[in-house]
Amino acid sequence: MKIIYADYIYTPSGYIRKQAVAFSDTIKEIGPFEILESKYPDAQMIQTVPHSVLYPGFINTHVHLEFSANKTSLKYGSFMPWLDSVIVHRDDLVGCCTNAMMMEECRSMLRSGVTTFGAVSSFGNELEVCEKAPQRVVFFNELIGSVAQYADMLYGDFVERVRASLSCDKEARITPAVAIHAPYSVHPLLLHKAVGIAKQHKLVLSAHFLESQAEREWLEHGEGEFRAFFKKYFNTQTPVSNIQEFIHAFDTYPAHFVHCTHASKEELNYLASKGHSIAHCPRSNRYLGVGRLAIETLKLPFSVATDGLSSNDSLSIFDEMRAALFLHNELPIQELAIALLKSVTSDAADILKLNNGRIAVGKMADFSVVTLPESPRREEEIALWTLLHTKEVSSVFVAGQKVY
Ligand code: BEZ
Ligand code: FE2
Repeated sequence: MKIIYADYIYTPSGYIRKQAVAFSDTIKEIGPFEILESKYPDAQMIQTVPHSVLYPGFINTHVHLEFSANKTSLKYGSFMPWLDSVIVHRDDLVGCCTNAMMMEECRSMLRSGVTTFGAVSSFGNELEVCEKAPQRVVFFNELIGSVAQYADMLYGDFVERVRASLSCDKEARITPAVAIHAPYSVHPLLLHKAVGIAKQHKLVLSAHFLESQAEREWLEHGEGEFRAFFKKYFNTQTPVSNIQEFIHAFDTYPAHFVHCTHASKEELNYLASKGHSIAHCPRSNRYLGVGRLAIETLKLPFSVATDGLSSNDSLSIFDEMRAALFLHNELPIQELAIALLKSVTSDAADILKLNNGRIAVGKMADFSVVTLPESPRREEEIALWTLLHTKEVSSVFVAGQKVY
């Protein structure tokens, strides 16, 4: 047993002062330090430095580790030129992305307090790194392929990858999951089979959805910038799916939709009615010029996530939350800071169906300790000071073990 004490603890009912948490791999009790100390006299005591706030470990629901080598290869500014540059540079970028490089990015997430991440994997290359990473990983096996002719081959490869992630050592804390690349890039044959697999094995399911205006135009009318793209790379002029068909494929199983920057209010409300959620990636959206997701009107839960270094400059969840403060510059800043922290803790845990993300009895003992530069003058501002002053967290625990 261990007992950790901090000036403040972030709990589902707000920040609580001068309390401690007793934990092993899960949280056993929350209460005054003296009481826990007398109840568990053999426990290891962990006293955090002054002005520390104990948070549940942060959760980054959507990242692509395999693009960790990108620095200047991919073209930022607008979606279609970016996607074109991904096609041109993908093999080089993925090819030169070593395990050491990906592990360093896992460690950079850890330094920002991320104890769980959702890794989208196109090829399965990251599995070894994810098994060795200190964090919990929801391993999203991604399915991509719009050409019907290759569907069987692609599906066979996908099933193999799902199987590999299902048979990881329990110690590695890998949770297998399924990702559909996007409505324009996945043939409905594959889409329905993949949703079926997720349902059958109760796996978390995710999909990029309506990220750009170009995607919308292509899916609605077979027009726009995607037309030349599909002519060039696939010698086709017709989309394999449309918005309605894609949405309805998920009607009976909740999914985590990534971006949705070009989804209409009606579509977003429909997603909400079916119990879906959204991954909101503010820096990726800005760098690819796809506009702002109006998080203030969403009726469904959302997480803030970094996406990969294919459309970002770091995998720090604090860099991402600070970016969100600026992207959503018309929202009241204190309330936004509170909502952002909720989006990467309890909401993200619910989205990934994990028993963490909250400091509450029975939850997994994943923590990040944030140390503020001085005692907060007003308690109602702790969330904002946390976002503004945290470049790196002070320490991190996963399943009760100190990992940073
Ligand atoms: C495909 O594999 O069919 C595909 C990949 C990226 C964009 C569009 C289609
Ligand atoms: Fe993504």
